Amino acid sequence: MIFTDLLNGKKADKPPVWIMRQAGRYLPEYRELRKSADNFIDFCLNPAKACEVTLQPIRRYNFDASIIFSDILLVPHAIGREVKFIPGTGPVLSKLTAINELSLPDFDDFQNFLKPVADAVTLTRANLPKETALIGFSGAPWTLMTYLTEGGGSRDFNTARDWLWSKPAESEKLLHHLSDYIVSFLTLQANAGANVLMLFDSWAGAVPASQRTKIITGFHKKIISDLRSAGIKLPIISFPKGLSEGLKAYSEKVECQALALDHYVDRRWAADNLRTDLVLQGNLDPLCLVSGGQVMKREVEEILEVFSNRRHIFNLGHGIVPQTPPEHVAELLALIRS
Ligand code: CP3
Repeated sequence: MIFTDLLNGKKADKPPVWIMRQAGRYLPEYRELRKSADNFIDFCLNPAKACEVTLQPIRRYNFDASIIFSDILLVPHAIGREVKFIPGTGPVLSKLTAINELSLPDFDDFQNFLKPVADAVTLTRANLPKETALIGFSGAPWTLMTYLTEGGGSRDFNTARDWLWSKPAESEKLLHHLSDYIVSFLTLQANAGANVLMLFDSWAGAVPASQRTKIITGFHKKIISDLRSAGIKLPIISFPKGLSEGLKAYSEKVECQALALDHYVDRRWAADNLRTDLVLQGNLDPLCLVSGGQVMKREVEEILEVFSNRRHIFNLGHGIVPQTPPEHVAELLALIRS
């Protein structure tokens, strides 16, 4: 598998490529199957459907990696919080206002609840081409804390940041609990047959810089060290989105094998300044893929050139957006693989 070989230290002639949210609403075959379930969580927790949706972009584009179809908000749901996906609004959760509102499950119950994800991983692994890697994933503690405390998505993260300043002990306790469940969820996916694990900290950039070492770096280190102590040796891709120059301090402390870069990171700076044993993943703006054509060609060539002397995985800087024309994805792959 060139994808895992690269993560384990080998060089590749051409960068392997996959796309965040590659299974999703821009694909007509996804939209068709999605109609078969009213509820998005039921859809994620149906192994046959999750497997089918994971395989759809692989059949179309033969990406070098697939990512199991699931969601970071399954963890809040599995620890007993209400999670709903409302079309046009996005995710809505029961808002956590104090730590004592939690009634947490034991880890066996937690893993049983998420067993359909493990089953989907096993089923998908059995049906993927053998050269295609399968990525298992989880949201990171801080990003999950934002959804729990805001009661959904947010623009400014005022409630979650208020927790950090006004309830520091409760915040730390919440992040510790989440971190333990995240380790349990990633372990479940590793044992079910995932080849790579990825940690999404989509809103890492919303943590005030003075608290980053504790809230982001500290918990990522803990999760990775807990996984290693549990005997899980799979390569890890970390996505602490929005850290910009803070990525240097982050990458010196966190022992991930790859760092996913968002499209706001200066890629030349990243290529020159981040530790050289780290694989860099990214970082085409998802909206550039919507435009396609010559503008995309120029940008892709620049990305390939900037990372040409480093181990690199081609990806977007964030998830593909629903309005992306599927033919542009084919164009992108042709550019990278030519
Ligand atoms: O192909 C893949 O990448 C695998 C599947 C995947 C989904 N969500 C499926 C999904 C992955 C890796 C995620 C991660 C995820 N979910 C993140 C982290 C990555 C990132 O983009 O920053 C976050 C923040 C979420 C939370 C979440 N789930 C949001 C904000 C939404 C969108 C809600 C909306 O209505 O716009 C979801 C729902 C979701 N997860 C969809 C998909 C394909 C769309 C829902 C649908 O089909 O109805």
